[in-house]
Amino acid sequence: MSLAIDDPTPSAPACADDGTWLACIECEETFAPFEAVRYTCDECDGLLEVRYANPPTFEDFGEGADSEGPDRGVWRYREALPFDLGVTLPEGGTPLHRVPRIEEAVGVEALRIKHEGMNPTGSFKDRGMTVGVRVAKELGVDALACASTGNTSAALAAYGGRGDMQTLVLLPKGKVAAGKIAQASLHGARILEVDGNFDACLDIVQELAARGEVYLLNSLNPFRLEGQKTIGFEILEEFHADYGVYPDRIVLPVGNAGNTSAIYKGFRELVQSGALDPEDVPKLTGVQAEGAAPMVEAIEEGADEVRRWEQVETRATAIRIGNPVNAPKALPGIRNTGGTAIAVSDVEITAAQRHLAVEGVGVEPASAASLAGLKKLRRQGVVDDDERVVCLTTGHLLKDPDAAYEAGGDPEPVPNDVDAVLKHIRG
Ligand SMILES: Cc1ncc(COP(=O)(O)O)c(C=O)c1O
Ligand SMILES: [Zn+2]
Repeated sequence: MSLAIDDPTPSAPACADDGTWLACIECEETFAPFEAVRYTCDECDGLLEVRYANPPTFEDFGEGADSEGPDRGVWRYREALPFDLGVTLPEGGTPLHRVPRIEEAVGVEALRIKHEGMNPTGSFKDRGMTVGVRVAKELGVDALACASTGNTSAALAAYGGRGDMQTLVLLPKGKVAAGKIAQASLHGARILEVDGNFDACLDIVQELAARGEVYLLNSLNPFRLEGQKTIGFEILEEFHADYGVYPDRIVLPVGNAGNTSAIYKGFRELVQSGALDPEDVPKLTGVQAEGAAPMVEAIEEGADEVRRWEQVETRATAIRIGNPVNAPKALPGIRNTGGTAIAVSDVEITAAQRHLAVEGVGVEPASAASLAGLKKLRRQGVVDDDERVVCLTTGHLLKDPDAAYEAGGDPEPVPNDVDAVLKHIRG
């Protein structure tokens, strides 16, 4: 398998459609992108990735692009995507917050927070869905499905609804935050609660997809990752505009390792086109919860494969995942960029969630794992004090109101009387 940072630009095989095709990352078999529904390689069942004969340069983005289209968000990067526009709400264009007090407390040269919770349904999943649902239309399918720890189901329901398609979501019973179920429900998905964890839900929905019952829109679907790679493009452009350099490191929460894979893929494409020096690619640094850390285990042990954890537990339910399906793409992403992976406790996650929240940045627990991981890596001396770092926060605080309520202070009951209220405040 070759997912080196400086792989040469691939030449288009005969099956390519307008310079775009699918390739197996294990055996290099290639497939036409839209002639049939396909999630993995026909030959070896390896993961597929979307390839382009013309990888993008920074000049291709936004105003410099040839075709007319949106000037912000995911579709600003249309030259790096299989289509010029998808079913859009619109998504992307999220803030890269300055957090000077956290930056000082952590002790790094620069720290910015890329808040993906500011997407239309409150998580980064929207970036993948806008592309995935567009591809579903191209393929002519009308029943969309996913397994989800919550956010994917909210995004699928919203984008499927907008695209006038049926949506089915499989959720682990009792383990999905309230805000996410509310979204999936109101946006019109049919919700099935499975008596098992996320990995069991994914096993079932993959089988339903294999039997042709539904079109799978988990991050196993390579087109989802195309939308998500734009997170990396935005970070590079915005960071460079402010500092004149690219960040040294991007720290992100890891569940199925879709974002890790997607951001790495985007950077490889910029290296292929000559737009980005391999030396300038940020170190991808993954963070998992201690109770669900199979990727961290693989990185620590130098293993080529990730061992599936059957029992997983964490209050960061979005990353309560024991079998990261994108590991074969994400492990090279972490290793080839000189990054690492680290596990953090639920207590550390909650502390980071509070730390961000008092700076006005409201994120759900899984998102706060990135800052918790950065703090731990600083304490361990793995991250240097001269590093410029971006932490990715993947979902909004309101996604998990119960966790937010528990992490925050309790409301104080007072009588319905001004003097009594004043006495209470002063006391
Ligand atoms: C809020 C949040 N953060 C992180 C993740 C994990 O992302 P990935 O599967 O890309 O590693 C998820 C996925 O469910 C999520 O909802
Ligand atoms: Zn293959």
